[in-house]
Amino acid sequence: MSAPSGLVIAIDGPSGSGKSSTSRGVATRLGLRYLDTGAMYRAMTWWMLRAGVDPTDPVAVAARVGEPLIEAGTDPLGPTIAVDGIDVVRAIRTDEVTGSVSPVSAVAEVRARLLGLQRTIIAAAPGGIVVEGRDIGSVVAPDAPVKVYLTADPSARAVRRAAEEGGSDVAATEESLLARDRIDSGRAASPLVMAEGAVHIDTTPYSLDEVIDLVVGLVKEAGA
Ligand code: DC
Repeated sequence: MSAPSGLVIAIDGPSGSGKSSTSRGVATRLGLRYLDTGAMYRAMTWWMLRAGVDPTDPVAVAARVGEPLIEAGTDPLGPTIAVDGIDVVRAIRTDEVTGSVSPVSAVAEVRARLLGLQRTIIAAAPGGIVVEGRDIGSVVAPDAPVKVYLTADPSARAVRRAAEEGGSDVAATEESLLARDRIDSGRAASPLVMAEGAVHIDTTPYSLDEVIDLVVGLVKEAGA
């Protein structure tokens, strides 16, 4: 696999740590493309559910992994995601998909397929791209000159995620976030870890603009 030629900014961390808003803000500020790899795992999960595949059966999931055509758009002002030509921007955010995405993401064959797609998209963004996920700095783009690991207090994460989801119950959202963290961090294939060389930012005390400023500062410091 060829190394991406443009600037890659890797942003990893658990759900609700502010990754998406920060990544889109940094990309917009610096005129870069933006890739949400979580949306790709969600799109794969959406397809599996629709195809009647049990998301908790890794053998069944692995057998179908090559079938869906997943297309992710990289405009930070309007990221798109489609499966077999169907716009799934909203459909991938339902509780059903959210509840099944961790076991699907833990399947090695799913990760291998999406890794290939992610590297192709990164290579096609020669002007540079901000990529968010769980394994960007460790696996997808280990040579990225800027790697950030975002975290936040679980309660702050749940409040943000519930607001994003249009006012879901905060306690239930926190429980679901922590359950996904446990699976995402404990899985054998590319677990959520802080990559070597990553800068850790706990976003709890900061506003979104302040976090974007911090990351843009890191990019400038790296001379990237
Ligand atoms: O960022 P998110 O909550 O939309 O991600 C959805 C799920 O996808 C998350 O539970 C873990 C998985 N994921 C992953 O395993 N690797 C990535 N690079 C991105 C997301």
